[in-house]
Amino acid sequence: MKEFSSQIKPFVWAHRGASAFAPENSMAAFRAAEDAGADGIELDVHLSRDGLPVVIHDETVDRTTDGTGAVAGLTVPELLDLDAGSWFSPEFAGEPIPLLADVLAWAGERLRLNIEIKSEDAGQAVLDLLGQFPCARVLVSSFNHKLLRRMRQHDNGLPIGFLVDSRFWRLAAKRARACSAESFHPPARHTTRALVSWCHNNGLKVFPWTVDSRSGKRSLCRAGVDGYFTNRP
Ligand code: G3P
Ligand code: MG
Repeated sequence: MKEFSSQIKPFVWAHRGASAFAPENSMAAFRAAEDAGADGIELDVHLSRDGLPVVIHDETVDRTTDGTGAVAGLTVPELLDLDAGSWFSPEFAGEPIPLLADVLAWAGERLRLNIEIKSEDAGQAVLDLLGQFPCARVLVSSFNHKLLRRMRQHDNGLPIGFLVDSRFWRLAAKRARACSAESFHPPARHTTRALVSWCHNNGLKVFPWTVDSRSGKRSLCRAGVDGYFTNRP
């Protein structure tokens, strides 16, 4: 059905980098994503004990490093000391947790970064940091919609994406529109043509998460999405 198909190539976001091929949220995964031809990279951000945005998915370092404890309880020097690669494969031993500043410097204007803010207190620190990278191409997203609204008040021009994790999307999509968000990020399995069409009629792009199979990617494209998040860019 032509009328539902996106006529343009979908924007491919490498989810936590090319995280099927290298440890998630590591520079190795980000380089692999660029090599694979991804258009952008999604990464997750928490705040260190000394107040810097660091790139890691979980609240603690336990799952993806050789350390233990809350990210918020560790300083940057302590975090940089951890091995965030061996859990994935010995070939990545010694891969450090990246600082968001280092990823912004590395990506430059080549790649768009979707900065997903996991901890509420990272919002202001991310805004402060983005002030130092005026040419960075970013999209700031979060499941925490109050935080996104607060960030919008601080920065009128910030590209914002609203994340949702359930099939009940209408209220969140209305809030995204009211916040002048660029995009709406529903779970891939709950992305319907009705959702895409409502978002497009209301000025929102749709970037579902997370899809790895060819058939899944094809069916999202048939639903008319603008792009998607994948571990296999
Ligand atoms: O931003 C899309 C996706 O990353 C949201 O879920 O848990 O992988 O951060 P999660
Ligand atoms: Mg994420």
